Amino acid sequence: MQEIKKGLEGIVALDTRISFIDGMQGILRYRGIDIEQLAGMTYDAVSYLLVNGEIPNEQELAAYSARLKTERRINGEMTDIMRICNYGSEALDSLRTAISCTAQMDYENDNNSLEANKNKAIRLIAKLPTMIAVMYRCKNGEIPLQPDDDLSHGANFLYMLRGEEPSAIEAEAIEKDFILSAEHELNPSTFALRIAASTLADAYSAIIAGLCTLKGPLHGGARKGVMEMLDEVAVPENANDYVLYKLARKQKIMGFGHRVYRNYDPRSRIFKEMAKKVAKENGDTTYYEVAENLEHVMYREFLEVRGRPIYPNVDFYSAVIYKYLQIPPELATSVFAIGRVSGWTAHCFEQYTDNRVIRPRAHYV
Ligand code: SDX
Repeated sequence: MQEIKKGLEGIVALDTRISFIDGMQGILRYRGIDIEQLAGMTYDAVSYLLVNGEIPNEQELAAYSARLKTERRINGEMTDIMRICNYGSEALDSLRTAISCTAQMDYENDNNSLEANKNKAIRLIAKLPTMIAVMYRCKNGEIPLQPDDDLSHGANFLYMLRGEEPSAIEAEAIEKDFILSAEHELNPSTFALRIAASTLADAYSAIIAGLCTLKGPLHGGARKGVMEMLDEVAVPENANDYVLYKLARKQKIMGFGHRVYRNYDPRSRIFKEMAKKVAKENGDTTYYEVAENLEHVMYREFLEVRGRPIYPNVDFYSAVIYKYLQIPPELATSVFAIGRVSGWTAHCFEQYTDNRVIRPRAHYV
């Protein structure tokens, strides 16, 4: 019998040109470019890079951004659907429905050519922020706002959600969030998407498979868990007791640990710096201090008790930023999806380009 790697740990399933991770050294690159450099670009440029495989020149970027802005709008029927969906504790449930409806309203839904699929990618990248802002405002009895074409991808989302333009630091924070969340090789949601794409299911169906997989608290749902934890811990002095209580009961602390990184996740380092900046601008740095204490206690506990450290993952300091940006916890996983959708579409196209049905074996017991 072949050895079974639970959770497929360490198994290399395919070749990719989309991203590279060195988990020992804490390196992440999208299409050969370091995440530190990408973090200083716009989400428009990074999503173009992921979907098209190369950095756009000035004209290409201008045309792409203009196209995204046109596609930000959703029609009245979609707004009605968002109103009817009226999600409970997890907006992703409504977002899933919204993407299904977008597929059914898209005349290119069944067209699996690269050109049609790139159009679908643009529609999804552009519309996800609008859908989330509209569903949130409808749920809260507020009038949905039209997108503002003068604002960047991130700033426009915050404007549509909150009804006021974000500060320059807030706009920088959400733009970085989308960029750092955009792509991460064969994470669970992307793998699920690639399996769906490998059956030659259409791109919308594959994206929905990815979206559903993002929902779980061990993956994208962790961001919401971190936001709830920040409120539960409330003050920095409580961090120690909180962690000890949870670990003693073998419970997971959300936002820590990673299958691939054995070193500091490079995205967390950038998020941490950004979280400090938004906290400082806000004036009340409590959430940031709570997070820093949680990180210290986790590091100490894992090193002392288990002989190896543990580090915050992509969901930890991004959740601190969401607290300061007043993004409610029930939207956290959906906001993660705004960034990730460009990575998902890139993987979908890569799968179609060199396809074989993904179908492993199980050992019968
Ligand atoms: C994402 O894969 C990606 O790339 C994902 C992602 C992306 O960009 O797509 O980076 C996004 O999903 C980040 C992860 C979000 N999830 C969480 O924050 C939930 C908390 N973290 C863990 O559940 C865990 O660390 C995982 C799921 C992230 C990784 O799981 P693994 O690789 O299967 O590790 P494990 O659960 O086997 O943990 C190894 C040990 C265990 O202890 P022992 O049983 O060996 O004694 O470490 C412990 C775990 O209990 N451990 C934790 C812990 N993380 C690991 N203990 C407490 N709290 C934690 N957070």
